[in-house]
Amino acid sequence: MSTAVEETASERRPRFDVERVRRDFPALFLTVHGKPLAYLDNAATAHKPGTVIEAEARFYREANANVHRGVHALSLKATIAYEEAREKAAGFLGAESLSEIVFVRGATEAINLVAATHGRQRVGAGDEIVVTAMEHHSNIVPWQLLCEEKGARLKVAPIDDAGQLVAGGLEELLTDRTRIVALVHVSNALGTVNPVRELTAAAHEAGATVVVDGAQAAPHMPVDVAELGCDFYAVSGHKAFGPTGIGLLWGRADLLREMPPYQGGGEMIRSVSFERSEYADPPARFEAGTPNIAGAVGLGAALDYLGALDWAGVAEHEEALLAHATEALEQLPGLSIIGRAERKAAVVSFVLDGVHAHDVGTIVDREGVAVRTGHHCAQPVMERFGVPATTRASFAFYNSHEEVDRLVAALAKVREVFA
Ligand code: ALA
Repeated sequence: MSTAVEETASERRPRFDVERVRRDFPALFLTVHGKPLAYLDNAATAHKPGTVIEAEARFYREANANVHRGVHALSLKATIAYEEAREKAAGFLGAESLSEIVFVRGATEAINLVAATHGRQRVGAGDEIVVTAMEHHSNIVPWQLLCEEKGARLKVAPIDDAGQLVAGGLEELLTDRTRIVALVHVSNALGTVNPVRELTAAAHEAGATVVVDGAQAAPHMPVDVAELGCDFYAVSGHKAFGPTGIGLLWGRADLLREMPPYQGGGEMIRSVSFERSEYADPPARFEAGTPNIAGAVGLGAALDYLGALDWAGVAEHEEALLAHATEALEQLPGLSIIGRAERKAAVVSFVLDGVHAHDVGTIVDREGVAVRTGHHCAQPVMERFGVPATTRASFAFYNSHEEVDRLVAALAKVREVFA
């Protein structure tokens, strides 16, 4: 029979076996300043399971050649590996066809691609683009550039003091001039999870297309683009436990087919002459030049890894980490959490009275705890909350409750230094 103490402990330690999962990630066993690493900067980039590192290395060892270009054995092997990664990406996002998956450098490139092609097609003088006040710069600046070029207007859906969209606020901005709504699925600075499906339905009702920045969602939850109903979805590979320099743009097949190329070069054409070039069908139309083949293969391995996870267990574990961190941080004198949305991913941004975030980050680093400090490429969010910067602890499923305790202990040291 279990004791009450054991029951409490097991309530806090969900069925997800974090110790087993941690063993899959070599970097989690690093030491920093002589202390075991507690890596709480997953929203900036996540660590990679050994299978990803090995898949990329194996590609270079055993299959390195260019794709779609050669008839020799290695080129065919490379092409198969690259296209298999596309199949995995299609499965991961619930795409209807492989042609809906474009390999890009990351979520930033995915959004820039949509703005420069679909955006240019769709937006004209006097038209409107709606974003939210919690966007990362990569889902603001490409739209500002488009608005400047076209004489269009950028409108911003407000957020409340909890860091969630004001109810009905985005919908109120929709008019018959709204051409595109671009919104983040999970905010990198606040952790807020947006109701993408409902907002997409409202945007569609107004005749707008919907571009979703999914960079911070893919590492935390299964994503199904059909269920969300959006038109474009951007994923960053390195935040989803894959390599850097690779990401995904999912786009609705009919929209991709209508879109002009983003960049010109090899592989995106059907034929080229000095008089005129004809372009390939999607996705090749948007993949000019030699792609990041090894990166795609590594991302495929990351998606395999994610696909094999117990996502109910992950959700339970991440919720428990968030609750634990929130509860413990709130006890620290002078600490205020920025972002208290009802639906939140395991991200905690905070400010400590009288201490600049960079000092917090530097001191906790000496304790082996890695957090991000600054504006998190979301300056409008900082402005909304009247702070220059925050300290952000962003968790992944491989983080442990002990690491939360280490963050809290390290922050207590910051308090001692600045007492
Ligand atoms: N966008 C990344 C972050 O939030 C780099 O840290």
